Amino acid sequence: MSVLTTIARSAVRAGRPVARIPTASLSLAARGVHTLPQLDYPYNALEPHISGQIMELHHKKHHQTYVNGLNAAEEAYAKTDSPKERIKLQSALKFNGGGHINHSLFWKNLAPQSQGGGELPAGALKEKIEADFGSVDAFKKKFNTVTAAIQGSGWGWLGYNPETKKLEIVTTPNQDPLLSHVPIIGVDIWEHAFYLQYHNVKADYLTAIWNVIHFKEAERRFLEASK
Ligand SMILES: [Fe+2]
Repeated sequence: MSVLTTIARSAVRAGRPVARIPTASLSLAARGVHTLPQLDYPYNALEPHISGQIMELHHKKHHQTYVNGLNAAEEAYAKTDSPKERIKLQSALKFNGGGHINHSLFWKNLAPQSQGGGELPAGALKEKIEADFGSVDAFKKKFNTVTAAIQGSGWGWLGYNPETKKLEIVTTPNQDPLLSHVPIIGVDIWEHAFYLQYHNVKADYLTAIWNVIHFKEAERRFLEASK
């Protein structure tokens, strides 16, 4: 079985980690071996808006699989000099690398209400949202409409466009990371993010998630992006 096939299969089987890379074989590229980041809150801390069961599976199984797939793809890339083999690895690098980047951002993007989740404080981000969308409610409504229309799996984003200097709502398919804008808020629209709790009613998940969006973190990102 080819390296690529191994990586692709491991990527779609949530919770089934690929073989660990032997320490002795660690190459220069493996210095940057990626690891699953810890959450800043317990799995059940976002209830009732996102269940503890979803959070645990999503973090421990799904995100871990992207981390494993990315490490395996990078290691395979470093081990070959063949351009053809390296080209074959591009999709695994993009899928697993994007999955790792997006989920790492997503966990920080959420917070229990006891830690400010759902609260958009007065300040630069709130003012910018009001300027670019008319009101916070109009922004949320537009975000949910655009994001609910994603066909298949993907991500909904509030992104900062460095060219127009505006906040814009954009989507990316699959695990593609947001590259055209600086991500300010990202929402996972894969079924694994909501199906166990919300079944096929994506709109209810999108309505609920605003109760646990960590707007202070979003504002930090916005200030960094716009300075
Ligand atoms: Fe996810």
